[in-house]
Amino acid sequence: MKIDILTLFPNMFNGFKNESIIKRAIEDKKVSINTINFRNFSKNKHKKVDDTPYGGGSGMVLMCQPIFDAVNSIKKKNSKVILLTPQGKKFNQKKAYELSKEEHLILICGHYEGFDERIRSICDEEISIGDYVLTGGELPAMVITDSVVRLIDGVINTESSKNESFNDNLLDYPTYTKPRNYNGMKVPEVLLNGNHLQIDKWRKEKRLKVTNEKRPDLLKNKIIIEKNGVNEKKNKIYVDDIKNIKVTKVKEKEKTNVYKLSKNSDIKAITLFMPNLIKGYKLKGKNKDKKVNKILIVKDEFIKKIAMKNVMKKIDILNYRFNLALSSDDEDGTSRVLGEAEMLKQMIINMYANYLGNENLDKIIKNINYLVNEFVKAKTLQSSFVNKEINNQRKM
Ligand code: ADE
Repeated sequence: MKIDILTLFPNMFNGFKNESIIKRAIEDKKVSINTINFRNFSKNKHKKVDDTPYGGGSGMVLMCQPIFDAVNSIKKKNSKVILLTPQGKKFNQKKAYELSKEEHLILICGHYEGFDERIRSICDEEISIGDYVLTGGELPAMVITDSVVRLIDGVINTESSKNESFNDNLLDYPTYTKPRNYNGMKVPEVLLNGNHLQIDKWRKEKRLKVTNEKRPDLLKNKIIIEKNGVNEKKNKIYVDDIKNIKVTKVKEKEKTNVYKLSKNSDIKAITLFMPNLIKGYKLKGKNKDKKVNKILIVKDEFIKKIAMKNVMKKIDILNYRFNLALSSDDEDGTSRVLGEAEMLKQMIINMYANYLGNENLDKIIKNINYLVNEFVKAKTLQSSFVNKEINNQRKM
């Protein structure tokens, strides 16, 4: 791989290129990293690269000409031109993997107040390394280069990049080295017994646990499914992006809902399910071949949707019960259904409040109160009508 970095401050990269893994990767010819001072491309007699902004305002703006010419002098068919800017798409490990497969990267480091908008037209991508503003793109160029180079085949031991943080969107498991006991802090026993199946299980468990504790946001877009199929090991768990799994309700029985799960892509396996550890909405799910028997939904909006559906179903049943009570003159039936309405409200508050959100919960309770009021009004009218009838009959 070749990485060309367009910068006004090439010296900033000296230390970066001459130490540790990056130095070795360059020596082993896994990558060549060149810094190009685009000031050398300026056609201005004073080698100017920036000017004041049109329309006024503070600071200097990088001009098109030196950058256009510098890019054109090195760009080939297989080059990917990347502009470093806080306005770019946020850099992450997935992007690092993608870029590590490229043959030629051209990284453009902005500086000063900004760059002429037209420079964007020669770039394939814009990348930011985070929501903060640096004095230039040099540090972001180093961050990106570092994370990309270490992923190039043969640069580091592949085992160590296999389980690292952000693979599968999960953080890394904890690691320990000698001594076994440091000031009373002991290495977990499981790591000392040489049982690699157990160690593997422990590490997977820890990755999920650590992610849930430190970065629960990384689990938000995941659906966790417990599989229990014929050819599957019991309790084998699959985690994937909810985008890749379609969950559709296919049947509604009295007590259980039947959900159909269809995969849009291969689901990667991780071998632990900790329903009590991760907050989510538990569902019973069955697909046709009965391979899925438990689903834990973690995506907020999806949880809301399903919880709302379930609650609305319960309200429909209550409504039906009110209608039944209206068509009968059994006094016990009236108080029973009013009690059921009260119990339903309590049940929704206790069991669904967390999933529905305050606004939905409010609407639902109002909805039930409305049904209760309408029912009581209708019942009162009914009984005053009946009383009138009885009085009329008495008078006759
Ligand atoms: N240039 C200045 N700040 C930056 C950032 N956060 N990411 C990428 N380039 C930048």
